[in-house]
Amino acid sequence: MMKASSIFIFLFLFTITTSISHSDDPSISSVCIIGGGMGGASVAHFLRRYSTTQIRLFDKNHLVGGRMATVSIGGDTFEAGASILHPKNYYAKNYTEKYLNQSIGGNNEEDDDVLGIWDGERFVFKSFRTDWKVPILRKIVRFVNSLRLFFRYGFSLFRMFDFVEDTVNKFLKYYEGFETRPVFGTVEEMLKWSGLFNLTTRPLEEELVDAGLSPLLIQELVTVITRINYGQSVLMSGLAGAVSLAGSGGGLWAVKGGNWQMAATLINSSDVLLHLKEEVESISNLGHSYELNTTEGKSYTCEVTVVATPLDELNIQFHPEISIPERKLQHTYTTFIRGLLNPAYFGLDSVADIPKLVGTIETPNVPFSCISVLKKYSEKDMTYKMFSRQPMAEELLDKIFSVRNETIKINWAAYPQYHAPETFAPFILDGQHLYYVNAFENAASTMETSAVAAENIARLIISRFATEKSRDLSNLRSFGHDAPEMHVDL
Ligand SMILES: *[C@@H]1O[C@H](CO)[C@@H](O)[C@H](O)[C@H]1NC(C)=O
Ligand SMILES: *[C@@H]1O[C@H](CO)[C@@H](O)[C@H](O)[C@H]1NC(C)=O
Ligand SMILES: *[C@@H]1O[C@H](CO)[C@@H](O)[C@H](O)[C@H]1NC(C)=O
Ligand SMILES: *[C@@H]1O[C@H](CO)[C@@H](O)[C@H](O)[C@H]1NC(C)=O
Ligand SMILES: *[C@@H]1O[C@H](CO)[C@@H](O)[C@H](O)[C@H]1NC(C)=O
Ligand SMILES: *[C@@H]1O[C@H](CO)[C@@H](O)[C@H](O)[C@H]1NC(C)=O
Repeated sequence: MMKASSIFIFLFLFTITTSISHSDDPSISSVCIIGGGMGGASVAHFLRRYSTTQIRLFDKNHLVGGRMATVSIGGDTFEAGASILHPKNYYAKNYTEKYLNQSIGGNNEEDDDVLGIWDGERFVFKSFRTDWKVPILRKIVRFVNSLRLFFRYGFSLFRMFDFVEDTVNKFLKYYEGFETRPVFGTVEEMLKWSGLFNLTTRPLEEELVDAGLSPLLIQELVTVITRINYGQSVLMSGLAGAVSLAGSGGGLWAVKGGNWQMAATLINSSDVLLHLKEEVESISNLGHSYELNTTEGKSYTCEVTVVATPLDELNIQFHPEISIPERKLQHTYTTFIRGLLNPAYFGLDSVADIPKLVGTIETPNVPFSCISVLKKYSEKDMTYKMFSRQPMAEELLDKIFSVRNETIKINWAAYPQYHAPETFAPFILDGQHLYYVNAFENAASTMETSAVAAENIARLIISRFATEKSRDLSNLRSFGHDAPEMHVDL
Protein backbone atom coordinates (compact mmCIF):
# COMPACT_ATOMS: atom_id res chain seq x y z
CA MET A 1 0.00 0.00 0.00
CA MET A 2 2.73 2.36 1.02
CA LYS A 3 4.67 1.55 -2.06
CA ALA A 4 1.79 2.14 -4.39
CA SER A 5 1.00 5.50 -2.98
CA SER A 6 4.57 6.71 -3.20
CA ILE A 7 4.62 5.77 -6.87
CA PHE A 8 1.42 7.70 -7.19
CA ILE A 9 3.03 10.73 -5.61
CA PHE A 10 6.01 10.35 -7.87
CA LEU A 11 3.78 10.28 -10.93
CA PHE A 12 1.76 13.14 -9.64
CA LEU A 13 4.84 15.27 -9.11
CA PHE A 14 6.06 14.33 -12.52
CA THR A 15 2.88 15.54 -14.17
CA ILE A 16 2.83 18.69 -12.09
CA THR A 17 6.33 19.56 -13.20
CA THR A 18 5.41 18.98 -16.81
CA SER A 19 2.45 21.25 -16.53
CA ILE A 20 4.38 24.01 -14.84
CA SER A 21 7.50 24.13 -16.95
CA HIS A 22 5.62 23.64 -20.25
CA SER A 23 8.85 22.33 -21.64
CA ASP A 24 11.54 19.68 -21.40
CA ASP A 25 8.93 17.05 -22.01
CA PRO A 26 11.24 14.11 -22.65
CA SER A 27 8.52 11.78 -23.81
CA ILE A 28 7.96 12.73 -27.48
CA SER A 29 10.92 12.04 -29.73
CA SER A 30 9.62 13.59 -32.95
CA VAL A 31 6.61 15.30 -34.44
CA CYS A 32 5.96 15.64 -38.18
CA ILE A 33 3.62 18.36 -39.39
CA ILE A 34 2.14 18.35 -42.88
CA GLY A 35 1.31 21.83 -44.15
CA GLY A 36 2.98 25.18 -43.49
CA GLY A 37 -0.06 27.43 -43.36
CA MET A 38 -1.47 29.11 -40.28
CA GLY A 39 -2.51 25.77 -38.74
CA GLY A 40 0.77 23.92 -39.23
CA ALA A 41 2.91 26.90 -38.24
CA SER A 42 0.83 27.43 -35.10
CA VAL A 43 1.09 23.77 -34.11
CA ALA A 44 4.88 24.10 -34.40
CA HIS A 45 4.83 27.30 -32.37
CA PHE A 46 2.75 25.95 -29.49
CA LEU A 47 4.49 22.56 -29.44
CA ARG A 48 7.80 24.33 -29.18
CA ARG A 49 6.44 26.33 -26.29
CA TYR A 50 5.35 23.17 -24.49
CA SER A 51 8.04 20.68 -25.52
CA THR A 52 11.59 20.14 -26.76
CA THR A 53 10.65 17.44 -29.25
CA GLN A 54 12.14 17.44 -32.73
CA ILE A 55 9.71 19.04 -35.19
CA ARG A 56 9.71 18.49 -38.95
CA LEU A 57 7.35 20.42 -41.18
CA PHE A 58 6.55 19.47 -44.78
CA ASP A 59 5.04 21.76 -47.37
CA LYS A 60 4.55 20.85 -51.01
CA ASN A 61 5.06 24.46 -52.11
CA HIS A 62 8.31 26.40 -52.32
CA LEU A 63 7.05 28.90 -49.73
CA VAL A 64 5.21 28.53 -46.44
CA GLY A 65 1.90 30.30 -45.82
CA GLY A 66 -0.63 27.88 -47.26
CA ARG A 67 -3.70 29.82 -48.27
CA MET A 68 -2.00 33.04 -47.20
CA ALA A 69 -0.11 34.36 -50.19
CA THR A 70 0.50 37.58 -52.05
CA VAL A 71 0.30 38.42 -55.71
CA SER A 72 2.14 41.13 -57.64
CA ILE A 73 0.27 43.02 -60.28
CA GLY A 74 1.16 46.29 -61.90
CA GLY A 75 4.18 46.62 -59.63
CA ASP A 76 2.21 46.40 -56.38
CA THR A 77 1.69 43.51 -54.01
CA PHE A 78 -1.70 42.46 -52.65
CA GLU A 79 -3.13 39.65 -50.57
CA ALA A 80 -4.21 36.91 -52.94
CA GLY A 81 -5.78 34.52 -50.43
CA ALA A 82 -6.75 34.94 -46.79
CA SER A 83 -6.66 38.68 -46.39
CA ILE A 84 -8.55 40.13 -43.44
CA LEU A 85 -8.13 39.78 -39.70
CA HIS A 86 -10.59 40.82 -37.02
CA PRO A 87 -9.44 43.17 -34.23
CA LYS A 88 -10.15 40.38 -31.73
CA ASN A 89 -8.07 37.75 -33.53
CA TYR A 90 -5.68 37.66 -30.62
CA TYR A 91 -3.30 34.95 -31.78
CA ALA A 92 -2.75 36.66 -35.11
CA LYS A 93 -2.38 39.95 -33.26
CA ASN A 94 0.25 38.53 -30.93
CA TYR A 95 2.17 36.93 -33.78
CA THR A 96 2.19 40.19 -35.67
CA GLU A 97 3.08 42.41 -32.76
CA LYS A 98 5.63 40.16 -31.09
CA TYR A 99 7.30 38.39 -33.97
CA LEU A 100 6.81 40.77 -36.84
CA ASN A 101 7.11 43.90 -34.74
CA GLN A 102 4.12 45.62 -36.31
CA SER A 103 1.45 47.54 -34.49
CA ILE A 104 -2.15 46.74 -35.27
CA GLY A 105 -4.87 49.26 -35.96
CA GLY A 106 -4.69 53.01 -36.28
CA ASN A 107 -5.21 53.10 -40.05
CA ASN A 108 -8.96 52.63 -40.09
CA GLU A 109 -9.57 56.26 -41.17
CA GLU A 110 -8.90 55.78 -44.87
CA ASP A 111 -10.82 52.87 -46.19
CA ASP A 112 -14.49 53.56 -46.43
CA ASP A 113 -15.46 51.57 -49.44
CA VAL A 114 -18.49 52.77 -51.29
CA LEU A 115 -20.72 49.74 -51.38
CA GLY A 116 -23.08 48.88 -54.18
CA ILE A 117 -25.34 45.84 -54.23
CA TRP A 118 -25.73 44.54 -57.77
CA ASP A 119 -28.57 42.19 -58.70
CA GLY A 120 -27.53 41.64 -62.32
CA GLU A 121 -29.63 44.50 -63.64
CA ARG A 122 -29.23 47.40 -61.31
CA PHE A 123 -27.76 48.52 -58.01
CA VAL A 124 -30.47 47.85 -55.42
CA PHE A 125 -28.41 49.74 -52.88
CA LYS A 126 -25.59 52.22 -53.23
CA SER A 127 -23.81 54.33 -50.66
CA PHE A 128 -22.32 57.75 -51.47
CA ARG A 129 -18.67 58.30 -52.18
CA THR A 130 -16.69 59.25 -49.12
CA ASP A 131 -13.40 60.20 -50.78
CA TRP A 132 -13.82 63.83 -49.81
CA LYS A 133 -10.66 65.63 -48.89
CA VAL A 134 -12.41 67.73 -46.25
CA PRO A 135 -12.73 65.65 -43.05
CA ILE A 136 -16.00 67.23 -41.98
CA LEU A 137 -17.60 66.48 -45.33
CA ARG A 138 -16.35 62.91 -45.12
CA LYS A 139 -17.95 62.58 -41.71
CA ILE A 140 -21.26 63.92 -42.97
CA VAL A 141 -21.26 61.57 -45.94
CA ARG A 142 -20.52 58.66 -43.63
CA PHE A 143 -23.39 59.68 -41.43
CA VAL A 144 -25.72 59.95 -44.42
CA ASN A 145 -24.57 56.50 -45.55
CA SER A 146 -25.45 55.04 -42.16
CA LEU A 147 -28.84 56.70 -42.42
CA ARG A 148 -29.38 55.20 -45.87
CA LEU A 149 -28.54 51.75 -44.56
CA PHE A 150 -30.87 52.38 -41.66
CA PHE A 151 -33.72 53.48 -43.92
CA ARG A 152 -33.37 50.38 -46.02
CA TYR A 153 -32.88 47.78 -43.30
CA GLY A 154 -34.17 49.42 -40.12
CA PHE A 155 -33.57 48.04 -36.64
CA SER A 156 -32.67 44.67 -38.18
CA LEU A 157 -29.18 46.10 -38.57
CA PHE A 158 -28.75 46.36 -34.82
CA ARG A 159 -30.03 42.82 -34.35
CA MET A 160 -27.40 41.69 -36.83
CA PHE A 161 -24.67 43.48 -34.85
CA ASP A 162 -25.92 41.84 -31.64
CA PHE A 163 -25.91 38.40 -33.25
CA VAL A 164 -22.31 38.90 -34.41
CA GLU A 165 -21.15 40.31 -31.09
CA ASP A 166 -22.68 37.42 -29.20
CA THR A 167 -20.83 34.93 -31.41
CA VAL A 168 -17.52 36.78 -31.12
CA ASN A 169 -17.87 36.88 -27.32
CA LYS A 170 -18.39 33.12 -27.17
CA PHE A 171 -15.33 32.61 -29.34
CA LEU A 172 -13.25 34.69 -26.90
CA LYS A 173 -13.53 31.83 -24.40
CA TYR A 174 -10.83 30.05 -26.40
CA TYR A 175 -8.31 32.60 -25.11
CA GLU A 176 -8.93 31.73 -21.48
CA GLY A 177 -6.02 30.36 -19.46
CA PHE A 178 -5.31 26.67 -18.84
CA GLU A 179 -6.98 26.81 -15.42
CA THR A 180 -10.44 27.26 -16.92
CA ARG A 181 -10.02 25.97 -20.48
CA PRO A 182 -9.84 22.19 -20.94
CA VAL A 183 -8.04 20.28 -23.70
CA PHE A 184 -10.60 19.16 -26.28
CA GLY A 185 -10.55 15.73 -27.87
CA THR A 186 -13.14 16.53 -30.55
CA VAL A 187 -14.42 19.56 -32.46
CA GLU A 188 -17.94 18.99 -31.12
CA GLU A 189 -16.70 19.07 -27.53
CA MET A 190 -14.73 22.22 -28.25
CA LEU A 191 -17.73 23.99 -29.78
CA LYS A 192 -20.16 22.86 -27.10
CA TRP A 193 -17.91 24.18 -24.37
CA SER A 194 -18.01 27.73 -25.77
CA GLY A 195 -21.70 27.60 -26.64
CA LEU A 196 -21.08 27.78 -30.40
CA PHE A 197 -22.08 24.24 -31.34
CA ASN A 198 -25.77 24.92 -31.89
CA LEU A 199 -24.93 27.49 -34.56
CA THR A 200 -23.44 24.69 -36.67
CA THR A 201 -26.69 22.73 -36.62
CA ARG A 202 -28.86 25.24 -38.47
CA PRO A 203 -28.49 27.40 -41.58
CA LEU A 204 -27.51 31.04 -41.15
CA GLU A 205 -30.79 32.16 -42.67
CA GLU A 206 -32.85 30.40 -39.99
CA GLU A 207 -30.66 31.74 -37.20
CA LEU A 208 -31.05 35.28 -38.50
CA VAL A 209 -34.82 35.03 -38.94
CA ASP A 210 -35.01 33.85 -35.33
CA ALA A 211 -32.79 36.74 -34.29
CA GLY A 212 -35.37 39.07 -35.82
CA LEU A 213 -33.63 40.18 -39.02
CA SER A 214 -35.79 41.27 -41.91
CA PRO A 215 -35.87 39.15 -45.10
CA LEU A 216 -34.55 42.13 -47.08
CA LEU A 217 -31.44 42.47 -44.91
CA ILE A 218 -30.79 38.72 -45.21
CA GLN A 219 -31.30 38.66 -48.97
CA GLU A 220 -29.17 41.70 -49.58
CA LEU A 221 -26.49 42.86 -47.17
CA VAL A 222 -25.98 39.53 -45.37
CA THR A 223 -25.87 37.63 -48.66
CA VAL A 224 -23.36 40.11 -50.09
CA ILE A 225 -21.10 39.44 -47.12
CA THR A 226 -21.33 35.63 -47.12
CA ARG A 227 -20.66 35.65 -50.87
CA ILE A 228 -17.58 37.82 -50.40
CA ASN A 229 -16.12 35.95 -47.42
CA TYR A 230 -17.08 32.34 -48.18
CA GLY A 231 -18.42 32.35 -51.75
CA GLN A 232 -21.65 30.85 -50.41
CA SER A 233 -25.26 31.77 -49.71
CA VAL A 234 -27.15 32.27 -46.44
CA LEU A 235 -27.91 28.52 -46.50
CA MET A 236 -24.43 27.99 -45.08
CA SER A 237 -24.25 26.97 -41.43
CA GLY A 238 -24.95 29.64 -38.83
CA LEU A 239 -21.51 29.63 -37.27
CA ALA A 240 -19.54 30.09 -40.48
CA GLY A 241 -22.12 32.72 -41.43
CA ALA A 242 -21.65 34.61 -38.16
CA VAL A 243 -17.88 34.50 -38.60
CA SER A 244 -18.31 35.83 -42.10
CA LEU A 245 -20.45 38.72 -40.81
CA ALA A 246 -17.81 39.47 -38.16
CA GLY A 247 -15.35 39.79 -41.03
CA SER A 248 -17.22 42.76 -42.42
CA GLY A 249 -17.12 45.11 -39.46
CA GLY A 250 -14.77 47.90 -38.50
CA GLY A 251 -11.12 47.70 -37.51
CA LEU A 252 -10.22 44.85 -39.87
CA TRP A 253 -6.53 44.57 -40.52
CA ALA A 254 -3.82 42.64 -42.35
CA VAL A 255 -0.10 42.10 -41.85
CA LYS A 256 1.92 44.70 -43.71
CA GLY A 257 3.86 42.95 -46.42
CA GLY A 258 1.60 39.90 -46.39
CA ASN A 259 -0.20 37.67 -43.91
CA TRP A 260 1.96 34.67 -44.93
CA GLN A 261 4.75 36.19 -42.84
CA MET A 262 2.93 35.03 -39.71
CA ALA A 263 3.48 31.42 -40.75
CA ALA A 264 7.06 32.16 -41.80
CA THR A 265 8.02 33.80 -38.55
CA LEU A 266 6.36 31.14 -36.38
CA ILE A 267 8.17 28.38 -38.24
CA ASN A 268 11.40 30.34 -38.18
CA SER A 269 11.28 30.88 -34.45
CA SER A 270 10.23 27.37 -33.44
CA ASP A 271 13.39 25.41 -34.31
CA VAL A 272 11.69 23.43 -37.07
CA LEU A 273 13.32 21.23 -39.70
CA LEU A 274 11.58 22.66 -42.74
CA HIS A 275 11.06 20.53 -45.86
CA LEU A 276 9.78 22.73 -48.66
CA LYS A 277 8.70 21.37 -52.05
CA GLU A 278 8.36 17.97 -50.43
CA GLU A 279 4.93 16.42 -50.55
CA VAL A 280 3.94 13.61 -48.22
CA GLU A 281 2.53 10.70 -50.24
CA SER A 282 1.90 8.10 -47.59
CA ILE A 283 1.57 7.82 -43.83
CA SER A 284 1.99 4.34 -42.38
CA ASN A 285 1.33 3.41 -38.80
CA LEU A 286 4.20 1.21 -37.67
CA GLY A 287 2.83 0.58 -34.19
CA HIS A 288 4.76 3.07 -32.09
CA SER A 289 5.56 5.53 -34.85
CA TYR A 290 4.55 6.67 -38.28
CA GLU A 291 6.50 6.36 -41.49
CA LEU A 292 6.06 9.25 -43.89
CA ASN A 293 7.14 8.77 -47.49
CA THR A 294 7.55 11.84 -49.64
CA THR A 295 7.80 12.80 -53.30
CA GLU A 296 11.55 13.16 -52.81
CA GLY A 297 11.67 9.38 -52.37
CA LYS A 298 12.56 9.84 -48.73
CA SER A 299 11.18 8.20 -45.63
CA TYR A 300 10.83 9.79 -42.20
CA THR A 301 9.86 8.23 -38.90
CA CYS A 302 7.83 10.33 -36.49
CA GLU A 303 6.25 9.44 -33.20
CA VAL A 304 3.45 11.94 -33.78
CA THR A 305 2.01 13.11 -37.11
CA VAL A 306 -0.12 16.23 -37.51
CA VAL A 307 -2.05 16.84 -40.71
CA ALA A 308 -2.47 20.61 -41.04
CA THR A 309 -3.90 20.86 -44.51
CA PRO A 310 -7.38 19.94 -45.78
CA LEU A 311 -7.41 16.25 -46.77
CA ASP A 312 -10.39 16.67 -49.08
CA GLU A 313 -8.48 17.13 -52.32
CA LEU A 314 -5.24 15.43 -51.36
CA ASN A 315 -4.10 12.01 -52.30
CA ILE A 316 -2.19 10.94 -49.20
CA GLN A 317 -2.31 7.19 -48.66
CA PHE A 318 -2.96 6.14 -45.10
CA HIS A 319 -1.94 2.68 -43.87
CA PRO A 320 -4.21 1.54 -42.36
CA GLU A 321 -6.90 3.61 -44.05
CA ILE A 322 -8.68 6.32 -42.12
CA SER A 323 -12.24 7.44 -42.55
CA ILE A 324 -13.54 10.98 -42.27
CA PRO A 325 -16.88 12.51 -43.30
CA GLU A 326 -16.96 13.57 -46.92
CA ARG A 327 -16.47 17.29 -47.39
CA LYS A 328 -16.34 19.43 -50.51
CA LEU A 329 -14.18 22.50 -50.69
CA GLN A 330 -15.60 25.72 -52.09
CA HIS A 331 -13.31 26.94 -54.82
CA THR A 332 -12.95 30.67 -55.11
CA TYR A 333 -11.61 31.93 -58.39
CA THR A 334 -9.75 35.12 -57.66
CA THR A 335 -9.07 37.35 -60.63
CA PHE A 336 -6.80 40.39 -60.40
CA ILE A 337 -7.07 42.98 -63.12
CA ARG A 338 -5.14 46.12 -63.79
CA GLY A 339 -7.29 48.16 -66.11
CA LEU A 340 -10.70 49.79 -65.98
CA LEU A 341 -14.26 48.58 -65.44
CA ASN A 342 -16.76 49.16 -68.20
CA PRO A 343 -19.59 51.37 -66.91
CA ALA A 344 -21.87 50.19 -69.73
CA TYR A 345 -21.84 46.67 -68.25
CA PHE A 346 -23.51 48.16 -65.17
CA GLY A 347 -25.81 50.41 -67.19
CA LEU A 348 -23.89 53.48 -66.05
CA ASP A 349 -22.37 56.40 -67.99
CA SER A 350 -19.18 56.90 -66.08
CA VAL A 351 -16.64 54.74 -64.28
CA ALA A 352 -16.83 57.15 -61.35
CA ASP A 353 -20.39 55.98 -60.70
CA ILE A 354 -19.34 52.38 -60.13
CA PRO A 355 -19.03 51.69 -56.40
CA LYS A 356 -15.57 50.77 -55.10
CA LEU A 357 -17.03 47.55 -53.80
CA VAL A 358 -19.59 45.82 -55.96
CA GLY A 359 -21.32 43.13 -53.91
CA THR A 360 -23.90 40.78 -55.37
CA ILE A 361 -26.96 38.86 -54.29
CA GLU A 362 -27.84 35.22 -54.90
CA THR A 363 -29.19 35.12 -58.45
CA PRO A 364 -28.22 33.03 -61.46
CA ASN A 365 -27.61 36.00 -63.74
CA VAL A 366 -24.62 37.40 -61.86
CA PRO A 367 -21.42 35.61 -62.92
CA PHE A 368 -19.25 36.88 -60.05
CA SER A 369 -19.46 37.27 -56.26
CA CYS A 370 -17.82 40.69 -55.95
CA ILE A 371 -15.45 43.16 -57.53
CA SER A 372 -13.48 45.68 -55.53
CA VAL A 373 -10.92 48.38 -56.26
CA LEU A 374 -7.61 47.49 -54.61
CA LYS A 375 -5.76 50.55 -55.78
CA LYS A 376 -6.60 53.60 -57.80
CA TYR A 377 -3.66 54.90 -59.82
CA SER A 378 -5.76 57.43 -61.73
CA GLU A 379 -9.35 57.83 -62.89
CA LYS A 380 -8.57 55.52 -65.79
CA ASP A 381 -6.17 53.07 -64.25
CA MET A 382 -6.98 50.85 -61.30
CA THR A 383 -6.27 47.41 -59.90
CA TYR A 384 -9.30 45.29 -59.11
CA LYS A 385 -9.89 42.03 -57.30
CA MET A 386 -12.78 39.87 -58.31
CA PHE A 387 -14.19 36.67 -56.74
CA SER A 388 -16.29 34.12 -58.58
CA ARG A 389 -17.47 30.54 -58.09
CA GLN A 390 -16.53 29.64 -61.66
CA PRO A 391 -13.42 30.60 -63.62
CA MET A 392 -13.96 33.92 -65.41
CA ALA A 393 -13.99 33.42 -69.18
CA GLU A 394 -11.98 35.87 -71.27
CA GLU A 395 -15.04 37.01 -73.26
CA LEU A 396 -16.91 37.77 -70.07
CA LEU A 397 -13.98 39.73 -68.66
CA ASP A 398 -13.90 41.70 -71.91
CA LYS A 399 -17.51 42.69 -71.33
CA ILE A 400 -17.03 43.70 -67.71
CA PHE A 401 -13.77 45.60 -68.29
CA SER A 402 -13.10 48.20 -70.96
CA VAL A 403 -9.33 48.04 -70.42
CA ARG A 404 -7.28 45.09 -69.19
CA ASN A 405 -3.53 45.55 -69.14
CA GLU A 406 -2.80 42.68 -66.81
CA THR A 407 -4.92 39.78 -65.61
CA ILE A 408 -3.95 37.17 -63.03
CA LYS A 409 -6.22 34.25 -62.20
CA ILE A 410 -5.90 32.11 -59.08
CA ASN A 411 -8.02 29.09 -58.25
CA TRP A 412 -8.16 28.62 -54.48
CA ALA A 413 -9.54 25.50 -52.81
CA ALA A 414 -10.49 28.11 -50.29
CA TYR A 415 -12.76 26.76 -47.55
CA PRO A 416 -15.31 24.00 -46.95
CA GLN A 417 -18.79 24.16 -48.38
CA TYR A 418 -20.84 24.69 -45.26
CA HIS A 419 -24.02 22.74 -44.64
CA ALA A 420 -26.21 22.56 -41.58
CA PRO A 421 -26.14 20.39 -39.60
CA GLU A 422 -22.38 20.26 -39.97
CA THR A 423 -20.44 17.01 -39.46
CA PHE A 424 -16.90 17.02 -38.15
CA ALA A 425 -13.86 14.89 -38.77
CA PRO A 426 -12.06 13.85 -35.59
CA PHE A 427 -9.04 15.75 -34.25
CA ILE A 428 -7.47 12.33 -33.60
CA LEU A 429 -7.71 10.42 -36.86
CA ASP A 430 -6.68 6.94 -35.72
CA GLY A 431 -7.18 6.85 -31.96
CA GLN A 432 -3.39 7.01 -31.65
CA HIS A 433 -1.08 9.89 -32.54
CA LEU A 434 -2.29 11.01 -35.93
CA TYR A 435 -3.93 14.43 -35.60
CA TYR A 436 -5.98 16.64 -37.92
CA VAL A 437 -6.06 20.42 -37.37
CA ASN A 438 -8.41 21.15 -40.28
CA ALA A 439 -11.24 19.17 -38.71
CA PHE A 440 -12.08 22.53 -37.12
CA GLU A 441 -12.61 24.14 -40.52
CA ASN A 442 -16.16 22.81 -40.62
CA ALA A 443 -16.93 25.21 -37.80
CA ALA A 444 -15.42 28.17 -39.64
CA SER A 445 -12.35 28.68 -41.77
CA THR A 446 -10.18 31.68 -40.94
CA MET A 447 -6.54 32.30 -40.10
CA GLU A 448 -7.45 32.73 -36.43
CA THR A 449 -9.63 29.63 -36.14
CA SER A 450 -6.67 27.67 -37.55
CA ALA A 451 -4.45 29.07 -34.80
CA VAL A 452 -7.04 28.32 -32.11
CA ALA A 453 -7.49 24.74 -33.36
CA ALA A 454 -3.71 24.32 -33.59
CA GLU A 455 -3.17 25.45 -30.03
CA ASN A 456 -5.68 22.86 -28.84
CA ILE A 457 -4.00 20.13 -30.91
CA ALA A 458 -0.60 20.99 -29.43
CA ARG A 459 -2.00 20.67 -25.91
CA LEU A 460 -3.89 17.51 -26.87
CA ILE A 461 -0.66 15.89 -28.09
CA ILE A 462 1.24 16.75 -24.93
CA SER A 463 -1.52 15.75 -22.56
CA ARG A 464 -2.29 12.43 -24.29
CA PHE A 465 1.39 11.56 -24.37
CA ALA A 466 1.81 12.28 -20.72
CA THR A 467 -1.26 10.20 -19.90
CA GLU A 468 -0.01 7.34 -22.01
CA LYS A 469 3.50 7.45 -20.61
CA SER A 470 2.32 7.51 -17.04
CA ARG A 471 0.04 4.58 -17.79
CA ASP A 472 2.97 2.68 -19.32
CA LEU A 473 5.06 3.48 -16.31
CA SER A 474 2.40 2.34 -13.90
CA ASN A 475 1.90 -0.89 -15.83
CA LEU A 476 5.63 -1.45 -15.68
CA ARG A 477 5.56 -1.25 -11.93
CA SER A 478 2.54 -3.54 -11.77
CA PHE A 479 0.50 -0.68 -10.52
CA GLY A 480 -2.19 -2.17 -12.65
CA HIS A 481 -5.69 -1.43 -13.69
CA ASP A 482 -6.79 0.60 -10.72
CA ALA A 483 -4.29 3.35 -11.49
CA PRO A 484 -6.15 6.62 -11.84
CA GLU A 485 -5.94 8.26 -15.23
CA MET A 486 -3.40 11.02 -15.33
CA HIS A 487 -3.93 14.24 -17.10
CA VAL A 488 -1.44 16.94 -17.62
CA ASP A 489 -3.29 20.17 -17.30
CA LEU A 490 -1.63 22.25 -19.93
C1 LIG B 1 -0.67 37.73 -26.24
O1 LIG B 1 0.48 38.19 -25.61
C2 LIG B 1 0.25 38.72 -24.32
C3 LIG B 1 1.52 39.30 -23.79
O2 LIG B 1 2.55 38.34 -23.81
C4 LIG B 1 -0.29 37.64 -23.41
O3 LIG B 1 -0.56 38.15 -22.13
C5 LIG B 1 -1.58 37.10 -24.01
O4 LIG B 1 -2.05 36.02 -23.24
C6 LIG B 1 -1.34 36.64 -25.42
N1 LIG B 1 -2.61 36.29 -25.99
C7 LIG B 1 -2.81 35.12 -26.54
C8 LIG B 1 -4.16 34.90 -27.10
O5 LIG B 1 -1.95 34.27 -26.61
C1 LIG C 1 10.27 47.39 -33.87
O1 LIG C 1 9.67 48.54 -34.44
C2 LIG C 1 10.02 49.74 -33.78
C3 LIG C 1 9.19 50.86 -34.36
O2 LIG C 1 9.02 50.70 -35.74
C4 LIG C 1 11.53 49.98 -33.93
O3 LIG C 1 11.88 51.16 -33.26
C5 LIG C 1 12.25 48.78 -33.32
O4 LIG C 1 13.64 48.91 -33.53
C6 LIG C 1 11.78 47.48 -33.93
N1 LIG C 1 12.37 46.38 -33.21
C7 LIG C 1 12.87 45.32 -33.81
C8 LIG C 1 13.42 44.24 -32.91
O5 LIG C 1 12.91 45.21 -35.03
C1 LIG D 1 -28.42 23.90 -28.00
O1 LIG D 1 -29.55 23.15 -28.43
C2 LIG D 1 -29.98 22.16 -27.49
C3 LIG D 1 -31.07 21.33 -28.13
O2 LIG D 1 -31.97 22.13 -28.81
C4 LIG D 1 -30.43 22.88 -26.21
O3 LIG D 1 -30.83 21.92 -25.25
C5 LIG D 1 -29.27 23.68 -25.67
O4 LIG D 1 -29.67 24.43 -24.54
C6 LIG D 1 -28.70 24.64 -26.71
N1 LIG D 1 -27.48 25.22 -26.21
C7 LIG D 1 -27.24 26.52 -26.25
C8 LIG D 1 -25.92 26.97 -25.71
O5 LIG D 1 -28.01 27.33 -26.73
C1 LIG E 1 13.91 33.25 -41.10
O1 LIG E 1 15.18 33.20 -40.49
C2 LIG E 1 16.26 33.43 -41.36
C3 LIG E 1 17.55 33.22 -40.61
O2 LIG E 1 17.46 33.64 -39.29
C4 LIG E 1 16.15 34.85 -41.93
O3 LIG E 1 17.18 35.08 -42.83
C5 LIG E 1 14.81 34.97 -42.64
O4 LIG E 1 14.63 36.29 -43.09
C6 LIG E 1 13.68 34.60 -41.71
N1 LIG E 1 12.45 34.63 -42.46
C7 LIG E 1 11.36 35.19 -41.99
C8 LIG E 1 10.19 35.16 -42.91
O5 LIG E 1 11.28 35.68 -40.90
C1 LIG F 1 7.90 3.94 -47.70
O1 LIG F 1 9.27 3.84 -47.98
C2 LIG F 1 9.92 2.72 -47.36
C3 LIG F 1 11.40 2.85 -47.62
O2 LIG F 1 11.64 3.10 -48.96
C4 LIG F 1 9.30 1.45 -47.93
O3 LIG F 1 9.89 0.34 -47.31
C5 LIG F 1 7.80 1.44 -47.66
O4 LIG F 1 7.21 0.31 -48.28
C6 LIG F 1 7.17 2.71 -48.20
N1 LIG F 1 5.80 2.75 -47.77
C7 LIG F 1 4.78 2.93 -48.62
C8 LIG F 1 3.42 2.94 -48.04
O5 LIG F 1 4.94 3.08 -49.81
C1 LIG G 1 -2.83 49.94 -70.72
O1 LIG G 1 -2.91 49.57 -72.08
C2 LIG G 1 -3.29 50.65 -72.94
C3 LIG G 1 -3.48 50.10 -74.32
O2 LIG G 1 -2.46 49.18 -74.64
C4 LIG G 1 -2.21 51.74 -72.88
O3 LIG G 1 -2.59 52.81 -73.65
C5 LIG G 1 -2.07 52.20 -71.44
O4 LIG G 1 -1.01 53.10 -71.31
C6 LIG G 1 -1.80 51.01 -70.53
N1 LIG G 1 -1.85 51.47 -69.13
C7 LIG G 1 -0.95 51.12 -68.26
C8 LIG G 1 -1.15 51.65 -66.87
O5 LIG G 1 -0.03 50.36 -68.50
